[in-house]
Amino acid sequence: MYKVKVLNQNGIQQELVCKDNQTLLDAANIQGVTINYACKGGGCGLCKIKVNEGSYERGKSSKAVLPDSEREQDYTLACKTFPKSDMQVLV
Ligand code: FES
Repeated sequence: MYKVKVLNQNGIQQELVCKDNQTLLDAANIQGVTINYACKGGGCGLCKIKVNEGSYERGKSSKAVLPDSEREQDYTLACKTFPKSDMQVLV
């Protein structure tokens, strides 16, 4: 179980707990933290977030919505992101 601090564009910070095998998006949905999404399959890009701190594993996601240049800057898709440490993310 990892703690994930979720900051939104309005400066509001919420915290959620994510299990090892759970995506950030699923944990957020269960715990009432808003992250926009549509497909939950790594294809639409609506759930794109920026990782400020922490390590994570990224599942298969479309390069059309998450190109290499963004991957290198720690952007990821919440529906395909599995935390591997405590994290802080910007949504
Ligand atoms: S919800 Fe569509 S890419 Fe994550």
